[in-house]
Amino acid sequence: MRSLHQAKGRKEQNLILLEGTHLLQECERLRLKPQLICSTDIWAQRHPCLLQLAPWQIVSPEVLCAMASTENPDGVVSLLAMPSDLTSLPRLDLANKPPLLLALDRVQDPGNLGTLLRTSLAAGVDQVWLGGGADPWQPKVLRASAGAVLQLQLKRWPSLVAGISIAKQSGFQILAAVQRGGRPYWEVDWQLPSVLLLGNEGAGLAAELTDEAQLVTVPHREEVESLNVAVAAGLMLMERNRQTHRALHGRGESSIAELHP
Ligand SMILES: C[S@@+](CC[C@H](N)C(=O)[O-])C[C@H]1O[C@@H](n2cnc3c(N)ncnc32)[C@H](O)[C@@H]1O
Repeated sequence: MRSLHQAKGRKEQNLILLEGTHLLQECERLRLKPQLICSTDIWAQRHPCLLQLAPWQIVSPEVLCAMASTENPDGVVSLLAMPSDLTSLPRLDLANKPPLLLALDRVQDPGNLGTLLRTSLAAGVDQVWLGGGADPWQPKVLRASAGAVLQLQLKRWPSLVAGISIAKQSGFQILAAVQRGGRPYWEVDWQLPSVLLLGNEGAGLAAELTDEAQLVTVPHREEVESLNVAVAAGLMLMERNRQTHRALHGRGESSIAELHP
């Protein structure tokens, strides 16, 4: 179990470690079957229903602490088979909501990646592409995503360049989020099939990705150099939902720009 804290161990065993009650509840809700649950006696007495999900074993609080990556585990850890990556693009179904892909270029911080995944699920992103960066199956990302990672369609690319080129050929507009110099995000037509690219916390987006893309920006005051990557993404993803809502439930002829003076 401890080896599952590291990417190498997860790869070798093809398993991920779910820490805490909430992730197990997500498994129950999503009808995922963990392979093993290890809990303290006290936890088992409080959660008899969750113990039905998988074979289980009672361990001492000390053993549980040794298995978990957190300092104060809440009494349970479980093992789940590593979910598999996607192999294809979403179909371009223009009759319904056009697809949106979030492509993350080397996002490194597990908290940021988890927040991006949670926000993606909330916003109805169809697929999340990861070009390097933090491992989505590490315990910190699983926790920060509040389990959203278990529901999303994920695809990992050695480099996003190949994926972006395929998406472009398939008719997606490629939008690169940059801290300044792009079109304000509310002027973008998010009703087109889109890939939204976001960059690494320190280095931003690789030039080879921005070269072929339309630049989009969340304007802000100059006192800060840039926004946190997950905050910038959240604003853009929710703007897409606002536009979709307007398109579906039309409210007069006023342009989107008028609503954001
Ligand atoms: C912390 S920023 C990177 C800052 C980095 N020093 C740079 O020069 O790009 C991480 C990512 O968040 C996104 N981002 C940050 N602020 C943004 C803004 N105001 N508008 C759009 N995207 C933003 C961009 O994708 C950026 O690559």
